[in-house]
Amino acid sequence: MVDHGYHIHPVGRGHAKALSEVHKGCFFKGWSHLEFESFFERAGVFAGLAYDKKQRPVGFVLCWIIEDQCDLLSMGVLEENRRDGVGQMLLDYALANATSLGAKYMMLEVNINNTAAHTLYESQGFEKFSVRKGYYTNADGTLADAVCMRKAL
Ligand SMILES: CC(C)(COP(=O)(O)OP(=O)(O)OC[C@H]1O[C@@H](n2cnc3c(N)ncnc32)[C@H](O)[C@@H]1OP(=O)(O)O)[C@@H](O)C(=O)NCCC(=O)NCCS
Repeated sequence: MVDHGYHIHPVGRGHAKALSEVHKGCFFKGWSHLEFESFFERAGVFAGLAYDKKQRPVGFVLCWIIEDQCDLLSMGVLEENRRDGVGQMLLDYALANATSLGAKYMMLEVNINNTAAHTLYESQGFEKFSVRKGYYTNADGTLADAVCMRKAL
């Protein structure tokens, strides 16, 4: 793959605004910086921001380790930076960090219609273990199921 100069930095509460801005660019229902700040009050939460070569934040990942399980709470890459390996880098970062912090599993939920994320997670060995009916509300108000996926670390 061509090196486009993306890099990941571990970030915390002080980056809540940047995390919120990138999140808002990735999902129709954005999370505020206050919501991101409150995540960091929980023990075991970690996050990473992906920057492009001009030091602009273009992607993020947010995870929460509870006992031996790491929950991938959210991840996204700005539309104009997709299909450039950033999602893969963020997932690699999350998996490596979770492993080094002692987690034995990573789990996540993904919208059943989200082909991009599904393909990425499956390619990294995540396997479906259950479905949550009507878990997500789409932009048009309809409901979509969540597929719960898990991977041993
Ligand atoms: C899912 C998402 C994070 C992927 O980020 P990305 O930077 O585009 O992903 P990458 O370029 O690293 O792609 C890695 C692999 O994922 C898969 N993939 C990514 N986008 C895909 C798409 N649109 N269709 C099919 N497969 C896709 C491919 O296997 C790809 O490998 P390849 O490029 O060698 O074929 C991005 O599409 C996104 O932010 N979507 C909106 C938010 C979201 O859905 N987050 C996940 C919620 S659980």
